[in-house]
Amino acid sequence: MAHQSDLIAENIEGYLKAQEEKSMLRFITCGSVDDGKSTLIGRLLYDSKMIFEDQLGALEADSKKMGTQGQEIDFALLVDGLAAEREQGITIDVAYRYFSTDKRKFIVADTPGHEQYTRNMATGASTADLAILLIDARKGVLTQTRRHSFIASLLGIKHVVLAVNKMDLVGYDEAVLNSIEAEYREFAKDFGFTDITSIPLSALKGDNILTNSDSTPWYTGPSLMQHLESVQVEDAAQSGNFRMSVQWVNRPNLDFRGFSGTIASGTVRPGDAIKVLPSARESTVKSIVTYDGELDMAVAGEAVTITLNDEVDISRGDIIAGKDHPPEVADQFEANIIWMAEDALLPGRPYLIKTGNQTVPGQITDLKHKVNVNTLERTAAKSLALNEIGVCNISLDKRIAFEAYGDVPELGSFIIVDRLTNSTVGVGMISFALRRASNIHWQALDVDKTVRAEMKNQRPAVLWFTGLSGSGKSTIANVVEQRLFARGRHTYILDGDNVRHGLNQDLGFTDADRVENIRRVGEVAKLMVDAGLVVMTSFISPFRAERRMVHDLMDDGEFIEVYVDTPIEVCAARDPKGLYKKAKAGEIKNFTGYDSPYEEPERADIHVNTDKQNVEECADKIIAYLEEHGYLNA
Ligand code: ADX
Repeated sequence: MAHQSDLIAENIEGYLKAQEEKSMLRFITCGSVDDGKSTLIGRLLYDSKMIFEDQLGALEADSKKMGTQGQEIDFALLVDGLAAEREQGITIDVAYRYFSTDKRKFIVADTPGHEQYTRNMATGASTADLAILLIDARKGVLTQTRRHSFIASLLGIKHVVLAVNKMDLVGYDEAVLNSIEAEYREFAKDFGFTDITSIPLSALKGDNILTNSDSTPWYTGPSLMQHLESVQVEDAAQSGNFRMSVQWVNRPNLDFRGFSGTIASGTVRPGDAIKVLPSARESTVKSIVTYDGELDMAVAGEAVTITLNDEVDISRGDIIAGKDHPPEVADQFEANIIWMAEDALLPGRPYLIKTGNQTVPGQITDLKHKVNVNTLERTAAKSLALNEIGVCNISLDKRIAFEAYGDVPELGSFIIVDRLTNSTVGVGMISFALRRASNIHWQALDVDKTVRAEMKNQRPAVLWFTGLSGSGKSTIANVVEQRLFARGRHTYILDGDNVRHGLNQDLGFTDADRVENIRRVGEVAKLMVDAGLVVMTSFISPFRAERRMVHDLMDDGEFIEVYVDTPIEVCAARDPKGLYKKAKAGEIKNFTGYDSPYEEPERADIHVNTDKQNVEECADKIIAYLEEHGYLNA
C-alpha cells in the first residue's frame, strides 16, 4: 500500500528506527474550499501514497511519545496555553491530520477559512512551523489571504508557502504568478516571515504537487511536496537558554524531591547552575530523572524531573532557568489578544490569566487599539468582540517569569479565563514587560488603616448598594448614613449620579464604561476604607464580575453587599427621574433593565425588598446586620 511497505516487511526494527529519527514539520493550510483547499490536501495525503500515522499505530513505538492515537487530535501538540483552553470547553474546529513520507513526518492543521473562525485559525497556527496560503490564480491576493497572513505572523510562523492554485485556468501564465508574488511580498514585508516560497499549482490536475509539471516549464523551484520535505525549520527552542516551567513538585518520600515539567527551551545537564524564578534562588542540577532512568542531558520538548543539590523552595508554576541568562520577571505586559468569547472583553474586568503552569488573577488595564484583521488598520476601541484582535496592557496580581512570545511561545502565551463561568474567553501573546510597573512600589506608611480606624473608634467597611435605577439605593443609604452619624460614626456616601458629574464624567453607559465606572469607584472606596471610614456606595453596578472585583480589592469582612431588590415594574412606576419613560420611548439607550442587563447578586450579605419594606425598615435591617456582625461594637 505505501512506499515503504517493503522495508516494513523486511526489517520492521529498521523501519521504526527510521520513523523515529525523521524530522517533523507542522503546517497549517489557509484558504477556503473555493480555493481548492480540500483538493490540495486530498492530493497531498492520498496521491503520494503517504503512510498515515494511524495506520502505523500498532507498530509505531514512537506514537506514545507523540501522543497520537489513531486519528484523534493530539492535544499535547498544542502549546500548553491553547491546550488548556480546550479543557475549558471551547469547541474549536481544527482538523489535524498526520502523515509521513520517506523524508519527514507531518502534522497538518486544517481550519475553516471564514472570518468568524479567527480563533480556530489561531489554534491551528499556534503550533505550526509553516503556513500554506492558498490563492486562486484568477483572484490573486484577497482579504482572506491578508487576514490569514496576519494571524500566522502574530502566532510566530516564520515560513510561508504561497500556493497559487488553479494555474490551469490562467493558461499556466508565469506573469500571473509573478504579479501575485510581488503584491504579496510588498504586503507581507513587515510580518517577520523568514521565507516566502511561491509555487504555481493545479491541485485538480496535480501540477507541481509531488513533482514538477511539464505545464510550467518556466518554473524552476521545488514542487510543493519537495518543499515541505526539505524546508529547514530552525528549532529555536532547542538552541535557546534553558527554561522549564515546573508542572508539579514530585515528592514520593522524604528522600526525594524533584521538579517535573517539560523543557520549554534550551538544554540542561547535571552540574548546571540554575536560578528559580520569580524567587531568584540559586542551586545546581543534581540529576535529570525520567521513566527510563537518569539522563546526562535533556533538551527542549522533553518531559523530565530535575533534582537539585540544595533545598530550594519551588512551587508549581515557577520557572527553573540557567543561572546566567534567566528570563525577566514582571507583573505588567503589553500583549496581543485574540478574543474568543461571545461576551466582549472589557478592560478593567477581572479575569484569570493562565500562563505556563499557573493561574493568576489579572486585568486588561488598557486596550490600546484593535486591529482590523482584513485591512490591518488600527482603531481605537473600548472592548474586543468575538474573534477580534487587539493590543493591550495587562496587569497581573503577582509577578511571573516570562519570555516574549516570539522567543519562547510556551512562556509567552496565556489564556484568559472568565472568573464566574470558568470558561476560556481569549488567548494572548506577550510582547514585552512594561518597565514602569516594576519601578512603582507601594509606599508603606506608618499611620495605617488600623491606627486610623482605632482613632475613629470604628471598624471600616464598605456597604455596597446594588440594584436597578429607582430601586431606592441612594434613599436607603442616606437614612443608614444618618443613623450611623447619630452614633458618632465617620461615614461617606459615594453616589452614582454625583460621581458621574466629577470623577467619572467621561463615562457613559456602555458595558465597558460601566465596568470602568465601578472599577474607579471600587478603588476610591478602598482608599476611603483605608482612611478608616464606613463607606456607602450607591451604584446600579449591574455586573457580578465587577462587584466581585471590588469585593476582592478589600480585606476580609470589609465588603458588605446590599441588594436593593425592587421589581422593574415598581422602579418604572416610581420613575423618580423620568428615565424609564424615556427608555421605553427609545430616547435613552443601554438603559438597565431594558436594553442593558442587570445581574442579580447570588449571595448578597443583606437583601432588602423596597416593594415590601419601607425605607426605615430597610435601614433597620442593615443596621441590625452591622450590629450582629460586630461593625458597631467599638
Ligand atoms: S452603573 O451601571 O455604572 O453602576 P450608575 O449607578 O453609575 O450606573 O448610574 C446610574 C444612574 O445614571 C441611574 O440611576 C440614572 O439616574 C442614570 N442613567 C442615565 N442613563 C442611564 C442608563 N442608560 N442606564 C442606567 N442608568 C442611567
